[in-house]
Amino acid sequence: MNPKLDLTNVATLLKDYKQKKGALIPVLQKIQEYYTYIPEAAVDLVAETLNVPASEIYGVITFYAQFYTRPRGRHVIRVCRGTACHVKGSKTVLEIIKDKLGLKEGDTTEDLQFTLETVGCLGACALAPVIVIDGTYYDKVTAQKIDDILHRLSQSAGQQSHASPAEAEAAGEL
Ligand code: FES
Repeated sequence: MNPKLDLTNVATLLKDYKQKKGALIPVLQKIQEYYTYIPEAAVDLVAETLNVPASEIYGVITFYAQFYTRPRGRHVIRVCRGTACHVKGSKTVLEIIKDKLGLKEGDTTEDLQFTLETVGCLGACALAPVIVIDGTYYDKVTAQKIDDILHRLSQSAGQQSHASPAEAEAAGEL
C-alpha cells in the first residue's frame, strides 16, 4: 500500500455511489480513470464504504481484463501481434520498442510515461504492422517512425498527449 496515496477523490466518489445498486463496477472504473489502476488502498476504502468484502472486489478486478492492479503509463503502447502484422514484422517492431524503453511486455517505465502491451488483430491488417498509442493508430510502422513517435511523446510530457484522429491523419499516421 502506498502511504502517500491521496484517497480524497475515492472518498468523494463513494459518497455519491454509497446508496446506489450495482455501484461496484462504475466505482472501480472511475478509480482507474483517476489513478490509471486500482490501488490496494482504494479497494480497502471501497470495501469498507460499500460493505463488500475486499476478496469480492478483487474477484471483479481479476475477472475483467479492463482493470489493472499496477500503475500504468501516461502513454499506453499496444503492438499488434496478429498474423498480418506478424508477417509484416511486428515482432521486430516490438523488440525495437522494448529496447528503446527498456521494458518487457506488460510493464511500465519507472517514470510512468509508457506502458507496453501486445494485442491480437486490431482490425487494420492492410496497414500492418500497426501499433496503437492512447487510441491513435500508427500504420506501416518502421524503426524511424517509432523513433519519431517516442521522441514526440516524450517531449509532450506535461502537455496534452492524445493526438486527435485529424491530427494523426495530418501527421500521416493513419
Ligand atoms: S493483424 Fe494487426 S491489424 Fe490485423
